[in-house]
Amino acid sequence: MMLLWAALCLWPASGLSGPPAAQPAVTIKGVDGEVQMPLLGIGTWQYNNSVAKSAVVSAFGLGYRHVDTAAAYQNQVGVGEALAELKLKRQEFFITSKIPGGLNASATAAAADSCLKELGVDYVDLMLIHFPADFGKNGSKKERQVEWTALEAWAKSGKARAIGISHFCRRQLDDILEVAHVPVAVNQVQYHVGMGSAGRMATDDRDYMRQKGVLYQSFSPLCGPCNPPDNKELLTGALVTGIGKKYKKTGPQVALRWLVQQGIPVIPKSHVPDHMKENSEIFDFELSEQDMTLLTKAQHPAVGGGPSASDSGDRGIEEELVV
Ligand SMILES: NC(=O)c1ccc[n+]([C@@H]2O[C@H](COP(=O)([O-])OP(=O)(O)OC[C@H]3O[C@@H](n4cnc5c(N)ncnc54)[C@H](OP(=O)(O)O)[C@@H]3O)[C@@H](O)[C@H]2O)c1
Repeated sequence: MMLLWAALCLWPASGLSGPPAAQPAVTIKGVDGEVQMPLLGIGTWQYNNSVAKSAVVSAFGLGYRHVDTAAAYQNQVGVGEALAELKLKRQEFFITSKIPGGLNASATAAAADSCLKELGVDYVDLMLIHFPADFGKNGSKKERQVEWTALEAWAKSGKARAIGISHFCRRQLDDILEVAHVPVAVNQVQYHVGMGSAGRMATDDRDYMRQKGVLYQSFSPLCGPCNPPDNKELLTGALVTGIGKKYKKTGPQVALRWLVQQGIPVIPKSHVPDHMKENSEIFDFELSEQDMTLLTKAQHPAVGGGPSASDSGDRGIEEELVV
């Protein structure tokens, strides 16, 4: 664990003024070599433009330098307004966006261009294909390959520093790898305390992703969309708060630390500045090996949690179920 942690870099590059003094980052495989991705970002799912704007302004004021959004969130205009208002140099922050799955070549380029337009930027740091199929769960190997190839061409024109996927399982990753000329940088999937010992179907083939050099990234790190009572377990539950007492840290801080200590980037969502601050204070302590193991063994909250348990294309597209 110590070795992995030591291998992480700091974001932003030296020489930049203002907060954050040092935000740990992890290396991902970009279109033209390595790219540094901050381990902490602010999530924006389900926020409208106005809430997304104020969340990003608050989070960046507290030192965040990474925002996660998507075409499907319909809040990129708000995110872009916040970024413009902050007046940071473009290289000082990291934007992840996503285009829908299931697009043909021209629709892929058009959707990705539209993200840039809404965000008001010339490029994103990471563009993901949101789903291995369209949101109606219709998709095929051929369609995935067409979309990936079109995304590569789009990114190579300087519009994304890295590209990746979200909700993909092993077989769907293999579809992409068959045709890929640009590395698949990241697979963004649901992952949090409670899923550390879950099987490969729940974890979107975590170990295979890693074996293939694809960075495994957590969404819903606090089990936000999980059904009650699971949705509070990583905030006020006995396991995380009990461990937190030893380190003078809160439940969310322990839950997030368990992820970043493994080199897994997190994008907790909050519209409450005190919560954002709390969620950012996770780089000044280290969980013991024993506590990491306890958190990894936890079977709760929900494995593949809450309403999204069956939403991934790998489970939604019946003919592609991996057995
Ligand atoms: N690729 C995908 O398909 C996908 C799917 C889901 C999510 N995501 C990304 O991942 C991000 C995070 O996931 P998520 O939004 O599902 O949920 P989450 O970050 O796991 O949890 C968010 C919830 O936790 C609460 N919270 C956050 N910090 C807290 C704290 N310190 N104390 C108490 N409550 C706290 C928030 O409420 P308050 O606002 O009251 O703090 C909010 O209700 C998303 O916003 C999105 O960017 C991606």
